[in-house]
Amino acid sequence: MRIRKISVFAAAIYFVMLGASCTGPVKEKASCKNGDTINPNGTSELALLMREMAKQVTANHDSLLAGKAIILAPEGIGKLKTAEKTDKNLDTALFNSLADVYLGKLTELQNAPDSLKITAHNNLVTSCKDCHSNFCPGPIKLINKMFVTQ
Ligand code: HEC
Repeated sequence: MRIRKISVFAAAIYFVMLGASCTGPVKEKASCKNGDTINPNGTSELALLMREMAKQVTANHDSLLAGKAIILAPEGIGKLKTAEKTDKNLDTALFNSLADVYLGKLTELQNAPDSLKITAHNNLVTSCKDCHSNFCPGPIKLINKMFVTQ
């Protein structure tokens, strides 16, 4: 009987600790915790747009290495700030300011002369990474592969 009581107590502590570790940061990452696999919960408008953005940057990575023309903008990019997100509690002000940094880097890529396209591409990839380190680190491994190293 005594042993049983102790184990119930231990289980209670365990669940309290488990509860504590599941609030906060984990919730913030929930929107894209599967990283480089397609997120089964991530079919929000923003997740779909992100897949387009990743496609553009991956294609450009290959084109730049092959000396070919790049894609100037991912489809639907005009909706970056308004697209519906999986995580409704995300810090919108922070998201929008990082989205503006990304959009600025995209314009720089579009305007860059050929000699600076690779630098502009890598700056764009850095802006993907900066937003992801704030909101969802999952895809960072994938994003790291998008840098063009010469
Ligand atoms: C302003 C912030 C921000 C920027 C910039 C950003 N992301 Fe994201 N990304 C997010 C958020 C938030 C999600 C989660 C979307 C959701 O589930 O609603 C996400 C999701 C993703 C996903 C997972 C999509 C899925 O299938 O669920 C990938 C891959 C991704 N981003 C890659 C990129 C790449 C590549 C770039 C740069 C070209 C980029 N992201 C730029 C915030 C950002």
